[in-house]
Amino acid sequence: MSESPQHHGQWSSRIAFIIAASGSAIGLGNIWKFPYLLGENGGGAFVLVYIACVIGIGLPIMMAETMIGRRGQRSPVNTMAALAKEANAPAFWQIAGWLGIVAGFLILSYYSVIAGWSMAYLFKMVGGFMDKVGPEEAQQIFLDLKAAPDVQLVWHSLFMALTTAILMKGLTEGIERVTRLMIPALFLMLLALDVYAATTPGFWEGMTFLFKPDFSKITPDSVLIAMGQAFFSLGLGMGSIMIYGAYLPKDVSIGRSSVIISIADSAVALMAGIAIFPVVFSNHLPPSMGPGLIFESLPLAFSHMPLGSVFGSVFFLLVFFAAITSAIALIEPAIAHLTENFAFTRQKASLIACGACWFLGLGTLWSFYDGGEWQWHGKTFFELIDFVTADVMLPLGGILIAAFGGWVIKEKVSKEELDLGEYHRYWQIGTRFIAPVAVALILLKALGLF
Ligand code: PFF
Repeated sequence: MSESPQHHGQWSSRIAFIIAASGSAIGLGNIWKFPYLLGENGGGAFVLVYIACVIGIGLPIMMAETMIGRRGQRSPVNTMAALAKEANAPAFWQIAGWLGIVAGFLILSYYSVIAGWSMAYLFKMVGGFMDKVGPEEAQQIFLDLKAAPDVQLVWHSLFMALTTAILMKGLTEGIERVTRLMIPALFLMLLALDVYAATTPGFWEGMTFLFKPDFSKITPDSVLIAMGQAFFSLGLGMGSIMIYGAYLPKDVSIGRSSVIISIADSAVALMAGIAIFPVVFSNHLPPSMGPGLIFESLPLAFSHMPLGSVFGSVFFLLVFFAAITSAIALIEPAIAHLTENFAFTRQKASLIACGACWFLGLGTLWSFYDGGEWQWHGKTFFELIDFVTADVMLPLGGILIAAFGGWVIKEKVSKEELDLGEYHRYWQIGTRFIAPVAVALILLKALGLF
């Protein structure tokens, strides 16, 4: 590209990029959301559909998004504008960049509140406040936390402060350093929890639930849920992978890196399932508890098991690591945008973006506190943000990114960037047809249009 700004710096190696991007992908989506969706949607068959979605839709879009980022080397908005101009396409494509920046910002505002819960639980576990609790007590602890805005405020603020501090340190000293430490640690902790789960009486029941497909449980709805989850979990359509791609050295193969990141992300989701369901079944708890699954059922289970408080603490530390390495990716596009367009230093941009995000998070916090009293069109503030981002903005961003990568960017360029050899054809089919159509279905479904 002609006037390539390149003032953001670059990852120090291919591995640094893979680890940071895996950190972005592996998050609350894997450990909090995937298990409860799986629990609600019939187990094994859902896993298979999910994996098919990762391969058929997620992977091609991830490659397209990374490629667009590396080609543009700027914030998502400026990248889309520059690449559209280069390809003589209308400036309207910039919308994909805006969707990414705004969605990431909005998602982080509630992500931080939920990450705060995991910190609160970690604190309770380590302090021994959750030893030998009964089912009602476990439920009450969760209800009490949701109803205590002051306590949630402390954890939400602490989480945002830590996120800001990492971002202020910059790419190599901040993001790379933290992810390099936390992501391998996260794998090890999860592995330890899986081994622990294997010693529980409900292990085989859990494994059967996870891996034995019962296709009668699959409905059109659950297919769409699996698709949406694949999208959220890989962290696509939010500009994060695009901006991480912008920092990627030219000689790294995007195709191979994307495959590794997708495998790591799916592996963590499955490993979380292997850690959680045996514990749930060992305690005769229902797998379909919904969003409270890890916060209500696990503490109860851990509190009655040998060494339970140690493993419980490890579990919530793991959730915290997963959340913070995703949080930095969610807001990075906004920070890059502020530094490029307003000439802010990285420090100032981080403070402004994260400060605003913290403030918006107060709305989510409030929506848990007032027990859903304030609603707009039947949704609380938290549900509204979740709906607008996950169900509308991300699919829309995903369609635009897939189509831009598949149709607008010249074939010669995508071949050179992706380095897929004979598989390039499949990537093209994915980005030109499968992904846009499949993601459009998610969008229409979310909007209640079919
Ligand atoms: N992939 C993250 C998760 O599964 O929790 C969420 C996420 C992180 C989405 C970063 C988008 C993103 F840019």
